[in-house]
Amino acid sequence: MILVIISSLLIFTSITLSSSANPVKVTLMMQALEASQWKPFVEEFNYQYSDIELEIVEGPNATNQVEDLYTSSFLLGNSPYDLVFMDIIWVSKFAAAGWLRSLSDRLSKVDLAAFLEGDINGGMYQGELYRIPIRSDGGILYYRDDLLEKAGYKPPNTFEELINISNALQEKKLAEWGYLWTGKQYEGLSAMFMEVLNGYGAFWINPYTLEVGLDSPKAIEAVNFLRRTLDSKASPMGVTTYAEEEVRRLFQTGNAVFMRNWPYAFGLLSDSSSPVQGKFKIKPMVHASNYFSGSCLGGWGLGITKNSKHPDAAWEVIKFFSSEEVQRRFILATGYVPSRRSLFNDPEILTKFSYYPQLLNVIENSILRPPIPQYAQASDILQRYLSAAITEQLTPEVAMERAASETRYLLGKQKNNNY
Ligand code: GLC
Repeated sequence: MILVIISSLLIFTSITLSSSANPVKVTLMMQALEASQWKPFVEEFNYQYSDIELEIVEGPNATNQVEDLYTSSFLLGNSPYDLVFMDIIWVSKFAAAGWLRSLSDRLSKVDLAAFLEGDINGGMYQGELYRIPIRSDGGILYYRDDLLEKAGYKPPNTFEELINISNALQEKKLAEWGYLWTGKQYEGLSAMFMEVLNGYGAFWINPYTLEVGLDSPKAIEAVNFLRRTLDSKASPMGVTTYAEEEVRRLFQTGNAVFMRNWPYAFGLLSDSSSPVQGKFKIKPMVHASNYFSGSCLGGWGLGITKNSKHPDAAWEVIKFFSSEEVQRRFILATGYVPSRRSLFNDPEILTKFSYYPQLLNVIENSILRPPIPQYAQASDILQRYLSAAITEQLTPEVAMERAASETRYLLGKQKNNNY
Protein backbone atom coordinates (compact mmCIF):
# COMPACT_ATOMS: atom_id res chain seq x y z
CA MET A 1 0.00 0.00 0.00
CA ILE A 2 2.74 2.43 1.10
CA LEU A 3 4.67 1.55 -2.05
CA VAL A 4 1.63 2.34 -4.20
CA ILE A 5 1.22 5.74 -2.51
CA ILE A 6 4.90 6.56 -2.86
CA SER A 7 5.01 5.55 -6.50
CA SER A 8 1.85 7.50 -7.36
CA LEU A 9 3.30 10.51 -5.53
CA LEU A 10 6.45 10.19 -7.62
CA ILE A 11 4.44 9.97 -10.86
CA PHE A 12 2.34 12.99 -9.83
CA THR A 13 5.42 15.03 -8.91
CA SER A 14 7.17 14.19 -12.14
CA ILE A 15 4.08 15.14 -14.21
CA THR A 16 3.75 18.43 -12.37
CA LEU A 17 7.44 19.16 -12.73
CA SER A 18 7.60 18.26 -16.38
CA SER A 19 4.45 20.22 -17.26
CA SER A 20 5.44 23.36 -15.35
CA ALA A 21 9.01 23.10 -16.61
CA ASN A 22 7.79 23.38 -20.20
CA PRO A 23 4.64 25.44 -20.11
CA VAL A 24 2.86 26.16 -23.36
CA LYS A 25 3.22 29.83 -24.15
CA VAL A 26 0.23 31.78 -25.43
CA THR A 27 0.44 35.43 -26.42
CA LEU A 28 -1.93 38.31 -27.02
CA MET A 29 -1.69 42.07 -27.43
CA MET A 30 -3.74 44.60 -25.47
CA GLN A 31 -3.88 48.39 -25.04
CA ALA A 32 -1.27 49.48 -22.47
CA LEU A 33 -3.78 51.08 -20.05
CA GLU A 34 -5.90 47.96 -19.91
CA ALA A 35 -2.90 45.60 -19.82
CA SER A 36 -1.81 47.27 -16.58
CA GLN A 37 -5.31 46.71 -15.13
CA TRP A 38 -5.35 43.02 -16.10
CA LYS A 39 -1.82 42.40 -14.81
CA PRO A 40 -2.75 40.90 -11.42
CA PHE A 41 -5.21 38.55 -13.16
CA VAL A 42 -2.56 37.45 -15.65
CA GLU A 43 -0.27 36.64 -12.73
CA GLU A 44 -3.08 34.71 -11.06
CA PHE A 45 -3.74 32.78 -14.28
CA ASN A 46 -0.08 31.88 -14.71
CA TYR A 47 0.09 30.73 -11.09
CA GLN A 48 -3.04 28.62 -11.34
CA TYR A 49 -2.28 27.09 -14.76
CA SER A 50 1.31 26.01 -14.34
CA ASP A 51 1.25 24.28 -17.75
CA ILE A 52 0.35 27.49 -19.62
CA GLU A 53 2.27 30.74 -19.70
CA LEU A 54 0.17 33.70 -20.79
CA GLU A 55 2.14 36.64 -22.13
CA ILE A 56 0.51 40.03 -22.73
CA VAL A 57 2.22 42.36 -25.20
CA GLU A 58 1.37 46.00 -24.50
CA GLY A 59 0.02 47.92 -27.49
CA PRO A 60 -1.05 51.55 -28.02
CA ASN A 61 -4.28 52.76 -26.37
CA ALA A 62 -6.19 53.70 -29.55
CA THR A 63 -8.26 50.82 -30.89
CA ASN A 64 -7.43 51.49 -34.57
CA GLN A 65 -3.70 51.42 -33.86
CA VAL A 66 -3.95 48.07 -32.06
CA GLU A 67 -6.05 46.77 -34.94
CA ASP A 68 -3.39 47.87 -37.44
CA LEU A 69 -0.69 46.02 -35.50
CA TYR A 70 -2.70 42.79 -35.37
CA THR A 71 -3.59 43.20 -39.07
CA SER A 72 0.03 43.60 -40.16
CA SER A 73 1.10 40.61 -38.09
CA PHE A 74 -1.51 38.45 -39.85
CA LEU A 75 -0.73 39.82 -43.31
CA LEU A 76 3.00 39.26 -42.88
CA GLY A 77 2.38 35.66 -41.77
CA ASN A 78 3.85 33.93 -38.73
CA SER A 79 1.89 36.13 -36.33
CA PRO A 80 3.13 35.61 -32.76
CA TYR A 81 -0.42 35.87 -31.38
CA ASP A 82 -2.55 32.93 -30.21
CA LEU A 83 -5.35 35.19 -29.04
CA VAL A 84 -6.76 38.50 -30.22
CA PHE A 85 -8.08 40.96 -27.66
CA MET A 86 -10.73 42.30 -29.98
CA ASP A 87 -12.84 45.43 -30.19
CA ILE A 88 -16.41 44.55 -31.21
CA ILE A 89 -15.89 46.36 -34.53
CA TRP A 90 -13.02 44.16 -35.75
CA VAL A 91 -14.88 40.85 -35.72
CA SER A 92 -16.30 40.84 -39.27
CA LYS A 93 -13.02 41.91 -40.86
CA PHE A 94 -10.86 39.42 -38.95
CA ALA A 95 -13.31 36.56 -39.44
CA ALA A 96 -13.84 37.30 -43.16
CA ALA A 97 -10.06 37.37 -43.67
CA GLY A 98 -9.82 33.88 -42.14
CA TRP A 99 -7.59 34.98 -39.26
CA LEU A 100 -9.79 33.53 -36.50
CA ARG A 101 -11.02 30.10 -35.43
CA SER A 102 -14.73 29.56 -34.96
CA LEU A 103 -15.64 29.18 -31.28
CA SER A 104 -19.20 28.07 -31.98
CA ASP A 105 -18.63 24.54 -30.64
CA ARG A 106 -16.87 25.65 -27.49
CA LEU A 107 -19.92 26.98 -25.61
CA SER A 108 -23.40 25.57 -25.09
CA LYS A 109 -26.56 27.63 -25.61
CA VAL A 110 -26.91 27.87 -21.82
CA ASP A 111 -23.35 29.21 -21.46
CA LEU A 112 -24.03 31.80 -24.17
CA ALA A 113 -27.29 32.95 -22.60
CA ALA A 114 -25.38 34.21 -19.55
CA PHE A 115 -23.81 36.96 -21.69
CA LEU A 116 -25.47 40.14 -23.00
CA GLU A 117 -27.14 39.39 -26.31
CA GLY A 118 -25.60 42.39 -28.11
CA ASP A 119 -22.12 41.34 -27.05
CA ILE A 120 -22.61 37.81 -28.37
CA ASN A 121 -24.18 39.05 -31.62
CA GLY A 122 -21.26 41.42 -32.06
CA GLY A 123 -18.93 38.40 -31.90
CA MET A 124 -20.68 36.55 -34.76
CA TYR A 125 -19.87 36.54 -38.45
CA GLN A 126 -21.98 34.60 -40.97
CA GLY A 127 -23.56 32.48 -38.26
CA GLU A 128 -20.32 31.51 -36.47
CA LEU A 129 -19.06 32.83 -33.14
CA TYR A 130 -15.51 34.25 -33.19
CA ARG A 131 -15.24 36.35 -30.04
CA ILE A 132 -16.20 35.75 -26.41
CA PRO A 133 -17.01 39.08 -24.71
CA ILE A 134 -14.84 39.93 -21.73
CA ARG A 135 -16.31 43.34 -21.07
CA SER A 136 -19.06 45.41 -22.64
CA ASP A 137 -19.20 49.14 -23.27
CA GLY A 138 -21.68 51.83 -24.26
CA GLY A 139 -21.59 55.59 -24.74
CA ILE A 140 -23.22 57.62 -21.95
CA LEU A 141 -23.74 61.25 -21.02
CA TYR A 142 -22.12 62.40 -17.79
CA TYR A 143 -23.55 65.53 -16.17
CA ARG A 144 -22.78 67.62 -13.11
CA ASP A 145 -25.97 67.28 -11.09
CA ASP A 146 -24.68 69.72 -8.45
CA LEU A 147 -24.31 72.53 -11.02
CA LEU A 148 -27.62 71.79 -12.73
CA GLU A 149 -29.37 71.89 -9.38
CA LYS A 150 -27.72 75.17 -8.43
CA ALA A 151 -28.92 76.77 -11.66
CA GLY A 152 -32.38 75.15 -11.45
CA TYR A 153 -32.16 72.88 -14.51
CA LYS A 154 -33.16 69.27 -15.08
CA PRO A 155 -30.75 67.07 -17.07
CA PRO A 156 -31.26 67.62 -20.82
CA ASN A 157 -33.07 65.21 -23.12
CA THR A 158 -32.50 66.89 -26.45
CA PHE A 159 -29.49 68.22 -28.35
CA GLU A 160 -30.90 71.76 -28.13
CA GLU A 161 -31.32 71.56 -24.36
CA LEU A 162 -27.76 70.30 -24.04
CA ILE A 163 -26.39 73.41 -25.79
CA ASN A 164 -28.83 75.83 -24.10
CA ILE A 165 -28.16 74.57 -20.58
CA SER A 166 -24.42 74.58 -21.29
CA ASN A 167 -24.53 78.23 -22.36
CA ALA A 168 -26.77 79.23 -19.43
CA LEU A 169 -24.39 77.69 -16.89
CA GLN A 170 -21.41 79.23 -18.66
CA GLU A 171 -23.10 82.65 -18.47
CA LYS A 172 -23.71 82.19 -14.77
CA LYS A 173 -19.99 81.37 -14.49
CA LEU A 174 -20.80 78.01 -12.93
CA ALA A 175 -18.49 76.28 -15.41
CA GLU A 176 -16.04 77.29 -18.07
CA TRP A 177 -17.19 74.66 -20.58
CA GLY A 178 -20.55 73.11 -21.34
CA TYR A 179 -20.15 69.93 -23.34
CA LEU A 180 -17.05 67.77 -23.90
CA TRP A 181 -16.94 65.14 -26.64
CA THR A 182 -14.34 63.06 -28.50
CA GLY A 183 -13.72 64.97 -31.74
CA LYS A 184 -10.23 63.79 -32.64
CA GLN A 185 -9.87 62.06 -36.01
CA TYR A 186 -9.92 58.43 -34.77
CA GLU A 187 -12.35 55.61 -34.05
CA GLY A 188 -13.86 57.36 -31.02
CA LEU A 189 -15.17 60.08 -33.38
CA SER A 190 -17.12 57.53 -35.43
CA ALA A 191 -18.48 55.85 -32.28
CA MET A 192 -19.68 59.15 -30.81
CA PHE A 193 -21.11 60.31 -34.17
CA MET A 194 -23.18 57.08 -34.47
CA GLU A 195 -25.10 58.29 -31.43
CA VAL A 196 -25.73 61.76 -32.84
CA LEU A 197 -26.79 60.26 -36.19
CA ASN A 198 -29.18 57.93 -34.41
CA GLY A 199 -30.53 60.79 -32.29
CA TYR A 200 -31.49 62.64 -35.51
CA GLY A 201 -33.09 59.52 -37.01
CA ALA A 202 -30.25 59.16 -39.53
CA PHE A 203 -27.98 56.20 -40.28
CA TRP A 204 -24.44 55.51 -41.45
CA ILE A 205 -24.48 52.20 -43.35
CA ASN A 206 -27.27 49.65 -43.43
CA PRO A 207 -25.34 46.39 -42.91
CA TYR A 208 -27.91 44.31 -44.79
CA THR A 209 -28.41 46.43 -47.92
CA LEU A 210 -25.12 48.37 -47.70
CA GLU A 211 -27.05 51.58 -48.30
CA VAL A 212 -25.17 54.67 -47.13
CA GLY A 213 -27.06 57.46 -45.34
CA LEU A 214 -24.31 59.97 -44.62
CA ASP A 215 -25.48 62.61 -47.11
CA SER A 216 -29.13 62.54 -46.05
CA PRO A 217 -30.57 65.83 -44.72
CA LYS A 218 -30.88 64.28 -41.25
CA ALA A 219 -27.23 63.21 -41.23
CA ILE A 220 -26.24 66.76 -42.17
CA GLU A 221 -28.31 68.03 -39.24
CA ALA A 222 -26.26 65.71 -37.04
CA VAL A 223 -23.01 67.29 -38.27
CA ASN A 224 -24.54 70.74 -37.80
CA PHE A 225 -25.21 69.90 -34.17
CA LEU A 226 -21.51 69.18 -33.60
CA ARG A 227 -20.64 72.44 -35.34
CA ARG A 228 -23.15 74.32 -33.14
CA THR A 229 -21.54 73.00 -29.96
CA LEU A 230 -18.35 74.72 -31.14
CA ASP A 231 -19.94 77.88 -32.62
CA SER A 232 -21.92 78.48 -29.41
CA LYS A 233 -18.73 77.90 -27.40
CA ALA A 234 -20.52 75.24 -25.36
CA SER A 235 -17.56 73.04 -26.37
CA PRO A 236 -13.95 74.19 -26.55
CA MET A 237 -12.35 74.05 -30.01
CA GLY A 238 -9.84 71.67 -28.39
CA VAL A 239 -12.38 68.82 -28.48
CA THR A 240 -11.60 68.44 -32.20
CA THR A 241 -8.27 66.93 -31.07
CA TYR A 242 -9.44 65.08 -27.95
CA ALA A 243 -9.83 61.32 -27.43
CA GLU A 244 -11.46 59.71 -24.37
CA GLU A 245 -8.68 60.39 -21.89
CA GLU A 246 -8.24 64.11 -22.79
CA VAL A 247 -11.98 64.61 -22.43
CA ARG A 248 -12.12 62.68 -19.16
CA ARG A 249 -9.22 64.63 -17.65
CA LEU A 250 -10.79 68.00 -18.52
CA PHE A 251 -14.17 66.99 -17.08
CA GLN A 252 -12.39 65.77 -13.97
CA THR A 253 -10.92 69.24 -13.32
CA GLY A 254 -14.50 70.33 -12.55
CA ASN A 255 -14.65 72.95 -15.32
CA ALA A 256 -17.32 71.38 -17.52
CA VAL A 257 -21.00 70.48 -17.18
CA PHE A 258 -21.46 67.59 -19.65
CA MET A 259 -19.30 64.90 -21.17
CA ARG A 260 -19.89 62.05 -23.62
CA ASN A 261 -17.67 59.11 -22.70
CA TRP A 262 -17.65 55.38 -21.88
CA PRO A 263 -18.37 53.99 -18.40
CA TYR A 264 -14.67 53.37 -17.66
CA ALA A 265 -14.46 57.08 -16.77
CA PHE A 266 -16.92 56.67 -13.87
CA GLY A 267 -14.40 54.85 -11.68
CA LEU A 268 -11.62 57.37 -12.36
CA LEU A 269 -13.91 60.39 -11.79
CA SER A 270 -15.00 58.87 -8.48
CA ASP A 271 -11.49 58.52 -7.12
CA SER A 272 -11.02 60.21 -3.74
CA SER A 273 -8.55 62.66 -5.32
CA SER A 274 -11.04 63.69 -8.04
CA PRO A 275 -12.54 67.21 -7.74
CA VAL A 276 -15.83 65.93 -9.18
CA GLN A 277 -16.18 62.90 -6.90
CA GLY A 278 -19.88 62.48 -5.97
CA LYS A 279 -20.86 65.55 -8.04
CA PHE A 280 -21.90 63.93 -11.30
CA LYS A 281 -24.44 61.44 -12.63
CA ILE A 282 -24.97 59.57 -15.88
CA LYS A 283 -27.86 59.27 -18.32
CA PRO A 284 -28.50 58.00 -21.83
CA MET A 285 -27.30 60.26 -24.63
CA VAL A 286 -29.62 63.09 -25.74
CA HIS A 287 -31.57 63.08 -29.06
CA ALA A 288 -33.57 65.40 -31.30
CA SER A 289 -37.19 65.86 -30.23
CA ASN A 290 -39.33 63.08 -31.78
CA TYR A 291 -36.36 60.71 -31.98
CA PHE A 292 -34.66 58.31 -29.58
CA SER A 293 -31.24 58.20 -28.08
CA GLY A 294 -28.96 55.32 -28.92
CA SER A 295 -25.81 54.42 -27.10
CA CYS A 296 -23.02 53.12 -29.32
CA LEU A 297 -22.22 49.56 -28.31
CA GLY A 298 -18.51 49.07 -27.71
CA GLY A 299 -16.69 46.37 -25.86
CA TRP A 300 -13.83 43.93 -25.94
CA GLY A 301 -13.49 40.18 -26.09
CA LEU A 302 -11.12 37.34 -26.94
CA GLY A 303 -10.80 35.26 -30.09
CA ILE A 304 -8.35 32.50 -31.06
CA THR A 305 -6.12 32.98 -34.11
CA LYS A 306 -6.19 30.51 -37.00
CA ASN A 307 -2.43 30.07 -36.85
CA SER A 308 -2.24 29.39 -33.09
CA LYS A 309 -0.47 26.12 -32.32
CA HIS A 310 -2.13 26.00 -28.90
CA PRO A 311 -5.85 26.63 -29.38
CA ASP A 312 -6.79 24.56 -26.33
CA ALA A 313 -4.47 26.50 -24.03
CA ALA A 314 -5.83 29.71 -25.59
CA TRP A 315 -9.34 28.50 -24.80
CA GLU A 316 -8.37 28.03 -21.13
CA VAL A 317 -7.34 31.72 -21.13
CA ILE A 318 -10.72 32.71 -22.56
CA LYS A 319 -12.60 30.61 -20.00
CA PHE A 320 -10.65 32.17 -17.15
CA PHE A 321 -11.02 35.80 -18.30
CA SER A 322 -14.68 35.52 -19.20
CA SER A 323 -15.60 33.63 -16.01
CA GLU A 324 -18.09 35.26 -13.68
CA GLU A 325 -15.64 35.29 -10.79
CA VAL A 326 -12.76 36.98 -12.65
CA GLN A 327 -15.11 39.50 -14.28
CA ARG A 328 -16.60 40.37 -10.89
CA ARG A 329 -13.19 41.11 -9.38
CA PHE A 330 -11.98 42.98 -12.48
CA ILE A 331 -15.09 45.17 -12.46
CA LEU A 332 -14.85 45.87 -8.75
CA ALA A 333 -11.27 47.00 -9.29
CA THR A 334 -11.85 49.13 -12.42
CA GLY A 335 -15.54 50.06 -12.97
CA TYR A 336 -15.63 48.62 -16.50
CA VAL A 337 -18.90 47.16 -17.82
CA PRO A 338 -19.48 43.41 -17.44
CA SER A 339 -20.48 41.22 -20.38
CA ARG A 340 -22.36 38.83 -18.08
CA ARG A 341 -25.94 39.85 -17.26
CA SER A 342 -25.91 38.58 -13.66
CA LEU A 343 -23.14 40.98 -12.67
CA PHE A 344 -25.28 44.08 -13.28
CA ASN A 345 -27.29 43.10 -10.23
CA ASP A 346 -24.53 41.51 -8.20
CA PRO A 347 -24.87 42.72 -4.57
CA GLU A 348 -21.13 43.31 -4.12
CA ILE A 349 -20.88 45.28 -7.37
CA LEU A 350 -24.05 47.27 -6.56
CA THR A 351 -22.64 48.33 -3.20
CA LYS A 352 -19.75 49.93 -5.03
CA PHE A 353 -21.44 50.98 -8.30
CA SER A 354 -25.14 51.55 -7.62
CA TYR A 355 -25.78 52.78 -11.21
CA TYR A 356 -25.16 49.38 -12.89
CA PRO A 357 -28.85 48.47 -13.40
CA GLN A 358 -29.25 51.81 -15.22
CA LEU A 359 -26.17 51.00 -17.27
CA LEU A 360 -27.68 47.64 -18.24
CA ASN A 361 -30.68 49.50 -19.59
CA VAL A 362 -28.46 51.79 -21.68
CA ILE A 363 -26.37 48.90 -23.03
CA GLU A 364 -29.43 46.84 -23.87
CA ASN A 365 -30.73 49.72 -25.99
CA SER A 366 -27.47 50.29 -27.75
CA ILE A 367 -26.64 50.35 -31.44
CA LEU A 368 -23.89 48.48 -33.20
CA ARG A 369 -21.54 50.17 -35.63
CA PRO A 370 -22.04 48.51 -39.06
CA PRO A 371 -20.73 44.93 -38.67
CA ILE A 372 -19.20 44.65 -42.15
CA PRO A 373 -15.74 43.37 -43.16
CA GLN A 374 -14.88 46.79 -44.65
CA TYR A 375 -15.67 48.54 -41.35
CA ALA A 376 -12.15 49.91 -40.75
CA GLN A 377 -12.01 51.62 -44.16
CA ALA A 378 -15.57 52.94 -43.86
CA SER A 379 -14.79 54.39 -40.45
CA ASP A 380 -11.58 55.92 -41.76
CA ILE A 381 -13.53 57.72 -44.52
CA LEU A 382 -16.09 59.01 -42.03
CA GLN A 383 -13.41 60.18 -39.60
CA ARG A 384 -11.57 62.16 -42.31
CA TYR A 385 -14.61 64.00 -43.63
CA LEU A 386 -16.28 64.54 -40.29
CA SER A 387 -13.07 65.97 -38.92
CA ALA A 388 -12.87 68.30 -41.96
CA ALA A 389 -16.46 69.43 -41.31
CA ILE A 390 -16.05 70.15 -37.61
CA THR A 391 -12.79 72.03 -38.13
CA GLU A 392 -14.48 74.11 -40.86
CA GLN A 393 -12.28 72.92 -43.71
CA LEU A 394 -15.40 71.74 -45.55
CA THR A 395 -19.06 72.59 -45.16
CA PRO A 396 -21.13 69.79 -43.58
CA GLU A 397 -22.93 69.27 -46.91
CA VAL A 398 -19.78 68.91 -49.00
CA ALA A 399 -18.03 66.80 -46.35
CA MET A 400 -20.92 64.38 -46.03
CA GLU A 401 -21.47 64.13 -49.78
CA ARG A 402 -17.84 63.18 -50.25
CA ALA A 403 -17.88 60.78 -47.30
CA ALA A 404 -21.04 59.13 -48.67
CA SER A 405 -19.73 58.77 -52.19
CA GLU A 406 -16.34 57.32 -51.07
CA THR A 407 -18.18 54.91 -48.79
CA ARG A 408 -20.48 53.84 -51.63
CA TYR A 409 -17.45 53.30 -53.84
CA LEU A 410 -15.83 51.18 -51.11
CA LEU A 411 -18.96 49.07 -50.77
CA GLY A 412 -19.64 48.91 -54.50
CA LYS A 413 -23.02 50.62 -54.13
CA GLN A 414 -24.87 53.26 -56.11
CA LYS A 415 -26.69 56.14 -54.45
CA ASN A 416 -30.24 55.26 -53.54
CA ASN A 417 -32.49 58.27 -53.10
CA ASN A 418 -35.04 56.53 -50.92
CA TYR A 419 -34.04 57.77 -47.52
C1 GLC B 1 -14.02 51.96 -26.42
C2 GLC B 1 -15.05 50.97 -26.96
C3 GLC B 1 -14.68 50.51 -28.34
C4 GLC B 1 -14.49 51.70 -29.25
C5 GLC B 1 -13.44 52.65 -28.68
C6 GLC B 1 -13.35 53.94 -29.50
O1 GLC B 1 -12.83 51.28 -26.18
O2 GLC B 1 -15.17 49.86 -26.11
O3 GLC B 1 -15.68 49.64 -28.87
O4 GLC B 1 -14.16 51.32 -30.55
O5 GLC B 1 -13.76 53.01 -27.35
O6 GLC B 1 -12.38 54.79 -29.03
